[in-house]
Parts: sequence; structure tokens; C-alpha cells
Amino acid sequence: MKKIAMLGTGLIGTFYTMSLHGLRSRDRVVTVYSRSEERGRKFAADFDIPKFTTSLQEAVTDPEVDVVVVGLPNNLHREAIFAAADAGKAVLCTKPLGRNAEEAWEILRKVEQTGVFHGYLEDLVYTPKHLKAHASVEAGAIGKVMWVRSREAHPGPHSDWFWNPEISGGGAILDLGCHCIEIGRSFIGKHIRPLEVVCWADTQVKPIAAEDHAIGLVRYANGAIGQFEVSWCFRGGMELKDEVAGVDGSIRIDNFLRTGFEMFSAPGKGGYVAEKAETESGWIFPVGDEVHELGYNNMFTDMFNALEKGAAPIEDFYDGYVVNAIMDACYRSVKSKKWEPVELKEWRGSDQVEPLTAFVEYDAAYWLVKTETLPDGRRKVILKDKKTGEIIQREG
Ligand SMILES: NC(=O)c1ccc[n+]([C@@H]2O[C@H](COP(=O)([O-])OP(=O)(O)OC[C@H]3O[C@@H](n4cnc5c(N)ncnc54)[C@H](O)[C@@H]3O)[C@@H](O)[C@H]2O)c1
Repeated sequence: MKKIAMLGTGLIGTFYTMSLHGLRSRDRVVTVYSRSEERGRKFAADFDIPKFTTSLQEAVTDPEVDVVVVGLPNNLHREAIFAAADAGKAVLCTKPLGRNAEEAWEILRKVEQTGVFHGYLEDLVYTPKHLKAHASVEAGAIGKVMWVRSREAHPGPHSDWFWNPEISGGGAILDLGCHCIEIGRSFIGKHIRPLEVVCWADTQVKPIAAEDHAIGLVRYANGAIGQFEVSWCFRGGMELKDEVAGVDGSIRIDNFLRTGFEMFSAPGKGGYVAEKAETESGWIFPVGDEVHELGYNNMFTDMFNALEKGAAPIEDFYDGYVVNAIMDACYRSVKSKKWEPVELKEWRGSDQVEPLTAFVEYDAAYWLVKTETLPDGRRKVILKDKKTGEIIQREG
């Protein structure tokens, strides 16, 4: 059993605690930090947590605590992680790790220098669908991954601080792009180096200084492309969609909105529907078990299993740092309107590049380009002459 200090009593602190205390979990939150005594007391009572405090220091240095979970606004991640590391506690931090790569690098150095366990809480690579799809990709079900499209779009965040880039570090790229970028890395292969990015972003709708909408491409050393689409102005709920194209197959995943639970309610008396749902009446799309569908249960299981085994979790602060470095390049690209290199102070993956190219031999003279069955039933093969390069087609 591990004893946890939860820092933050907002949306993510709530989801994390629901997950940690769900399914009769043996790991328990034993103290919670909130700026507001009233909120801390209520949160502790709601989740059967024995202690609450308005002192971050008191929470992280509590002798009973093994693990600190950081669920605070982005500008406080560094301070909270430094405090936890100085107290010698294992530390798990929500996304994004830092407001930029510099901050993430300082955080990574701190936990490595103090030698504490660190886990990056990127829940969306732990959704039940992602884990199943990822295992299939690893087993070779779709061949090498060429392209991943990941989309997160909703009507905008739920607290003031997200909309202030000095506190949050950025707009939709930093808030949502971090998820999509890591989903792309996860499928393409985290050992493959992200080389460069091109990104468009704009403030289309909201009266804010940061971007409310962005699309980007991350190019990897083997030629694979991770594409992300993020928005804070999408209407109708929260979309979390991924597509993976491999040399031998493809995958489509819809994690959240309209995934097979639809309800029409004229009075709308059902209460909370799902994260970022815009309405409680009319046609609504509830989610059966939100903390599970969003990956929190599998994520904490991996984190605590790794901690107990003395192993690294699937996601650690180095991953958080790489994601921040990719996002920094995105912001540079938005300004320059050009491809920008991903600048990493240290690359811990592979430097060997395995090409995606997978030519299929038809016979001694030809490469197979493709086969096709036409509407009238005829079958065709399209071939390339190995010597001359000529493309021909044959029937039969
Ligand atoms: N899927 C995810 O992984 C996910 C989802 C949502 C949020 N997050 C991340 O979680 C973190 C918190 O986001 P949230 O949605 O819970 O925000 P929130 O606004 O709902 O909650 C933030 C919490 O921090 C407290 N807080 C705010 N300013 C503070 C200050 N100056 N000092 C101390 N406490 C302060 C608030 O009172 C609240 O308890 C962010 O880093 C965000 O990016 C992750």
C-alpha cells in the first residue's frame, strides 16, 4: 500500500482521487493540499481523506506520505516537484510537465539528481483502447507506423488560469497538444527521434493572448509523421480521436464523445454528463466510466506497480521533457511559418534509423505496387520493373 499526498483539489485532483480510491484500491490519499481551507476540508470529507492542509510544504514533507501527486496549475509544477524531490518522495506530475522545455529540463534534472521515482501522468496513452491498440502495433498487426493523427478538441478549459499564458505557458497547443504529441510518439515508437515540426496556430474565436486552435506535424527520424489537431473552440463536447496508419494496416480510435451511449432528455435532470459536455438536456452523450475511459485507472496501476518493482513506468519525466521540447518547436514554427528543429539537450532513444520502406517482391523481375479487384470482378496487379523502373499492369 502506498500513501499519497494529493496537491490540488480541482478537476484533475478530483479525477485522480476518484481513480485512486476507486475499485477498493489499496493505495490511499492520506493528505490533500488546497489553498482554501474550506475546499480542502470538503475534498477530504468527500473522498474519506484523513488530513488536509493549506501548506504545500506540510503535505509533501508529511512523514506518512510515500508519493506526491501534482495536480496544480502549470506554473506550480516546478515548485511542487522540487519540494517533493527535496523531501525524498516519489513524485507523479500531471501534463504538461513544464510550461516550456527549459522548465521541464530543470524538473527532470532535479528528480534525477535527487534520485526520486518520477512518473508523467499522460493518461491518454493509458486508455483501454490505446493500450489494446498499442499492444497490437507492437505485435506487428499493422506493420511499421507511418502516420498517426491525434485530435483533441473541446469548447475550452474550465478555469481562469488556463487562459492566461503567463500562468499556463500557452494555449491549446500546450494544454491539448501535449496529449496528442505523446499519443503519436507512443504509436510511432518512443525510441525514434522526433526531428522537426511545422505548425499552424491562431486565435480564431476567444478573446485571449494564446492560441485557441492549432494543427501541427511532427516528423520523426524514420520518416513517420505525427499529426495533431487541437482546439479550444470546438462545440458539442470533447473529442478524443486517434488514427494510426501502418504499412500493413490501420486503426481508428474514438475514446470519448459519442462512443455508443446516447440519451435524449427533455428535462435534463440527470446532472453531470461527461467532461466538457455542453448540455445536460436534449441529445446527450454520457460516458459510462469516465476515469477508466480516460486512462486514469491503468495509468496509476502502471505508476504504482513500477514504483513497487523499482522499475520505470511507461511514462516518466523524460517523456514529459521531450513533449515540451516538441511543443517549443511548434511555437517557433507558428512564428516562422517554417519547419523548426526539435531541440533536445539529451536524446535517450536510438540513433539507428530503420526506414519505413517495405518493398514487396512479386517475382524475380518485378516489385509489387498493388493488387485491385474492379467493380466488374476483374483482378489487376500493378508492378514495377526492377531494372527499368517501368510501371505496368496485368490482369488475372
Ligand atoms: N487529462 C489530464 O491529464 C488533465 C486534465 C485536466 C487538467 N490537467 C492538468 O492538471 C493541472 C490542474 O488542472 P485542473 O484542471 O485540475 O485545474 P483546476 O483549475 O480545476 O484546479 C487547479 C487547482 O489548483 C488550485 N490552485 C490554483 N492556483 C493556485 C495557486 N496559486 N496556488 C495553489 N493552488 C492553486 C485550485 O484551487 C485548484 O485546486 C494542470 O497542469 C492541467 O494541465 C490534466
